Amino acid sequence: MSRLQFVWVPALAAVSALVGSQYAGAQQPVGSSPSSRDLTWAFAVGGKEQPPEPDPKEVVKLPGSDKSYTREQIDDLTNTMDWFPGEHPPAPVAVIGAPGRKAVACASCHLMSGGGHPGSASLDGLPAEYIQRQMAYFRNDTRKAIRMNAIAKTVTPQEDREAAEFFAGLKPTKFIRVIEADMVPETYVTRFRERYVKKGGKMEQLGERIIEVPEDAERVDARDPHSGFVAYVPKGSIKKGETLAMTGGNGRTVQCAICHGEGLKGLGDVPRLANLHPIYVARQLYDMKRGESSGKMAQLMKQVVANLTDDDILNLSAYVASLQP
Ligand code: HEC
Ligand code: HEC
Repeated sequence: MSRLQFVWVPALAAVSALVGSQYAGAQQPVGSSPSSRDLTWAFAVGGKEQPPEPDPKEVVKLPGSDKSYTREQIDDLTNTMDWFPGEHPPAPVAVIGAPGRKAVACASCHLMSGGGHPGSASLDGLPAEYIQRQMAYFRNDTRKAIRMNAIAKTVTPQEDREAAEFFAGLKPTKFIRVIEADMVPETYVTRFRERYVKKGGKMEQLGERIIEVPEDAERVDARDPHSGFVAYVPKGSIKKGETLAMTGGNGRTVQCAICHGEGLKGLGDVPRLANLHPIYVARQLYDMKRGESSGKMAQLMKQVVANLTDDDILNLSAYVASLQP
């Protein structure tokens, strides 16, 4: 197997170099720490196979909400809908958007609950200083990320602050269920870089991947903040990740709780890791390792990631995602 993958690496690297400018951050890690593994499970890019375009006039309703929105409203990124307005404080314009506003609204991708999708990230309950700092890194490109570099340049630091305070004020809820498995449903990746279960698909080997999919694709499509995700992780990975996180693996890395706090629930302005999307965590660890997320505070993560192997990153991502937020 490793021989086959070895042959494939240059081809993948060449393809990612080609698409790199268009999909910055979405390519295989080809920087300082190339991996011989196929990492499209973490850096997912939509393929040819796409579901039919929904009817923009279709009216959608969700369990537990008295609202109804058309597909067109649901997919309007600049003026986002709000299924459960009673569940959060009034949202600043950067978060929820407004009719005619040009900048995309944070909640269109990160949801009004901050729970986010695996292709984006959770923001609920992250420290406000942390969120603002990331926005500054995105704006000055010290942290390279799909979509966020461009988005950060459309909002002002004042809007960052308002958005950061809003998301920091939300109580994180458990949004991701982690299951150890050998076999997983066949999946495909949408043009929004989200992985969905293929209808009528077979089961396939999970292998050395994490496959994170909606619990309910239709509700996730409707950006329902109550409908979370299931992440299939390799058998034994949670325990291995836990051991590494707790011990530092004889100096291979540093015990996570020293900085991320007990239960990895966050400490001061260091973010929680507990129950973050595992796909996102893996992307960040790779990005930090290859220097694509290299803000001043991220330097503290330098020695943590320097010697992590592909297996370590997989196991740590599985473990932290499995924790109670
Ligand atoms: C079009 C979708 C989209 C919108 C709109 C969006 N984001 Fe993001 N955001 C992303 C994606 C994708 C990532 C993950 C980047 C990565 O994988 O490194 C992300 C990541 C982040 C992160 C990093 C989270 C972490 O734990 O470090 C922050 C902070 C963030 N976004 C804040 C915002 C704010 C504030 C807004 C509104 C001004 C916003 N985003 C709007 C897609 C979006
Ligand atoms: C010496 C302190 C320190 C240790 C030890 C540490 N971290 Fe971090 N970590 C940080 C800081 C600080 C940040 C936030 C960087 C920033 O503000 O840009 C961070 C950020 C992260 C992020 C990005 C979170 C997000 O929301 O994007 C991940 C993932 C992460 N750390 C994983 C780990 C894991 C896993 C371990 C243990 C193996 C670990 N860290 C150990 C200091 C540390």
